[in-house]
Parts: sequence; C-alpha cells; structure tokens
Amino acid sequence: KQNLEAGDVMKKYVVKVKSPPNDEDCCICMSRLSANSGYDDSCTTVYQLKKCTHMFHKSCIEAMYSSGSKDGHVQCPTCKTIYGEKYGNCPPGKMEFHTLPQSVPGYPGSGTIRIIYSIHGGIQGPEHPHPGQAFSARGFPRHCYLPDSEEGRKVLKLLIVAWERRLTFTIGSSTTTGEGNTVTWNEIHHKTEWGSNSTAHGYPDPNYLTNVSMELAVHGVTESDISE
Ligand code: APR
Ligand code: ZN
Repeated sequence: KQNLEAGDVMKKYVVKVKSPPNDEDCCICMSRLSANSGYDDSCTTVYQLKKCTHMFHKSCIEAMYSSGSKDGHVQCPTCKTIYGEKYGNCPPGKMEFHTLPQSVPGYPGSGTIRIIYSIHGGIQGPEHPHPGQAFSARGFPRHCYLPDSEEGRKVLKLLIVAWERRLTFTIGSSTTTGEGNTVTWNEIHHKTEWGSNSTAHGYPDPNYLTNVSMELAVHGVTESDISE
C-alpha cells in the first residue's frame, strides 16, 4: 500500500468548506483560511476533515500527505486523529499465540495468552532508514503475555491488526542495547515478563490493558477495526 494520490485519498476524508471563517488560520501554512494558501498561492480552497472538523487549505493538507508515506492514511496535524489505515515498516516475520492455564499476577483465574513474535535479520527495504544495508534482530522469538480475560482478548485482536499493518516493530537504534540498524519495539508496549515488574515490562500492572489500547489508538488501531 504505497503511492496513493493525495487528491484521491483526501476526497474520502474531507468536505469542501463553502465560506471559510476569516478569523482562523490554517495551522499548516499559518495564513488565514479565508486567504490564499501560504504554500500554494493559487489555492483558496479550504477542506474540513470529517470526524475532527479541523480545517486547512486544500494544497496545504495535500502537500502534508504527499510528504509522508503516501499509504492512504491521513493524520490531522491539529489533533492527530487518523483517517484511513496507517501502515508501518515492520520487517517480515511471524506472530503466533496460544493460551496457558496459569494466570499472570493481577488476573487470578483468567489464564494467559502468550504471543510469540519471530523476526530474522535481513536487508533493509526502501521503506527502512538505510535501504540496502543489513539489519539485525536480537532476542527473537520474543514472548509476550496478556491475561485471557475479555479485555485481554480484545487487546489481542487489536495487536493482531497492528501486526497485519506492520506497526509492532520497526528498524532503528535500540535504546536498551545501543545497537543501530536493528529491529525494535515501535511504541506499542508489550509485557515480556511474566511474574516480576522490575523492568516495567511485566505484571502486575493494573493500567496495562488501558495504556496499550491508547498506544494502539495513536497508530489508528481502535475497536472499530475489530467489531465485525
Ligand atoms: N520488554 C518490552 N518492551 C521493552 C523492553 C522489554 N524488555 N525493553 C524496552 N522496551 C520498550 C521500551 O520501553 C520502548 O518503548 O520498547 C521500546 C523501544 O525500546 P528499545 O530498547 O529501543 O527496544 P528493543 O531494542 O526492541 O527492546 C529491547 O526488549 O523484548 C525485549 O528482547 C528484547 O531485551 C530486548 C528489549
Ligand atoms: Zn494552509
């Protein structure tokens, strides 16, 4: 999913504003919405995003889209609401899961879902920071745990959507090891420890399921993606 045209993508998510307010600025170019775009002097058209209702010059929001990954998703620069599906650049691999009878601390009697991610090192593609260079993959398979509760199963479904959209891992420098050109977690926290929370990556953590749901939402993965 790449190189979708700005004009086509934008049309799905905006309405044209008939009479733009003359006391509001376009937050992309900082010119008045009622004046010409500071980015493209010939543009006076104003677009309003459908869900969050923020407004921008047509050429400003289209230029913003075109400078990004062009995968068909648009993020409102004002409030960060995501339109369409945002994709990441996680290298190829496997996500598997199964249940275990034991429960993680804080969820007595629930049982546990264990997720296993497997990724191997390889050569970076055009979507990665250093195309053509090698990348490493340390600590795989990585094991992660969720309580097998109703909320835990919902988070599992969201994590599967995130994996399918290549959002779970990325390639960069590891904060933990300092190594560059390596596979790292990508802002969606996983519990990789079972019984102790000395690293903050284990249980008990009563806020974990709520927090990871919010992190998923930042990437555009929400309940509406799993409610079929
Ligand atoms: N478990 C889960 N998440 C972690 C861990 C961990 N042990 N260590 C760091 N993170 C989180 C960080 O809080 C940060 O949000 O991953 C994000 C990226 O941190 P990096 O250190 O850059 O990521 P990475 O190199 O992938 O992780 C290091 O995580 O799963 C383990 O085996 C892995 O020991 C390695 C560690
Ligand atoms: Zn503008």
